[in-house]
Amino acid sequence: MSASEQPQAKQDRDPTTLVDWELRFNDNKHAEGRNVEVEVEKLNFWYGDKHALQDVSLNVFAKEVTALIGPSGCGKSTLIRCFNRMNDLIRDTRIDGRIRLQGQDIYEAYQDPADLRARFGWIAQKPNPFPNSVYDNVAYGIRLRGLVETHDEMDVLVEDALRKADLWSEIRDRMHEAGTDLSGGQQQRLCIARAIASRPDVILMDEPCSALDPTATQHIEDLIGELRKQYTIVIVTHNMQQAARISQRAAFMHLGKLLEDGDTEQVFLNPQTDLCKNYITGRYG
Ligand SMILES: Nc1ncnc2c1ncn2[C@@H]1O[C@H](COP(=O)(O)OP(=O)(O)OP(=O)(O)O)[C@@H](O)[C@H]1O
Ligand SMILES: [Mg+2]
Repeated sequence: MSASEQPQAKQDRDPTTLVDWELRFNDNKHAEGRNVEVEVEKLNFWYGDKHALQDVSLNVFAKEVTALIGPSGCGKSTLIRCFNRMNDLIRDTRIDGRIRLQGQDIYEAYQDPADLRARFGWIAQKPNPFPNSVYDNVAYGIRLRGLVETHDEMDVLVEDALRKADLWSEIRDRMHEAGTDLSGGQQQRLCIARAIASRPDVILMDEPCSALDPTATQHIEDLIGELRKQYTIVIVTHNMQQAARISQRAAFMHLGKLLEDGDTEQVFLNPQTDLCKNYITGRYG
């Protein structure tokens, strides 16, 4: 790495953000062209009277990792549940504003919510494989989307998804064991394989490592780095080191508002608001 490519020199930074981020920005180059995959425009969301998202606007760029950060209750999960219309399933909620996936408004009447949920792969906080075999966990989405006609074709797609999730070599002889019998880290990679198998455009991850040990977490982080070559990823994380390590973009939320977003390097080294600065340096949140 040449000197000009080095992250901003420490002495040039605001002294209050002098945290030793393990900034992998040198291999976190932005995707060519930086196409916008998901565009959020003036999004408002209410649970009953609770105004949980207030005028949130955000661009999620294709084939980049966008980290959503902010203190508990600020609306991170609510926002990504609006992306795949999971909030539709909660009673007494209201949404206003626009979310476009590849330019198309996902709340237009012609959009099929089930299809949208497949286009936004979902990885939950706690690994949640179905109580079926490893094979059937992955085959589920492929069947649902009618992607194959024969068993052989199914075998190929299941293997492909497990390889992409970096699980194949560990699991190839255990395809008929229950997914729930795997280790926590393997279960989370199985859930990633299940999500990938449905050929999503975007992968949404809500604190995917919070139930995992450091080794399994490292494995998932490495995997996210690989996956972003093919997928757009939005990840919620409370781990600031993790956000710095794996994301190219970061968005800081506070009390339902998106206070700042930008390249991760900029948000972590030169936060524009005191709230964000205090949060990422661990003084608040
Ligand atoms: N199903 C619900 N019904 C009513 N209020 C809700 C519901 N889910 C979330 N909220 C409220 O909306 C706000 C945003 O919640 P959300 O879960 O999106 O926050 P978060 O940033 O993901 O928090 P955390 O970091 O703790 O997961 C909070 O005040 C929360 O209490
Ligand atoms: Mg949450």
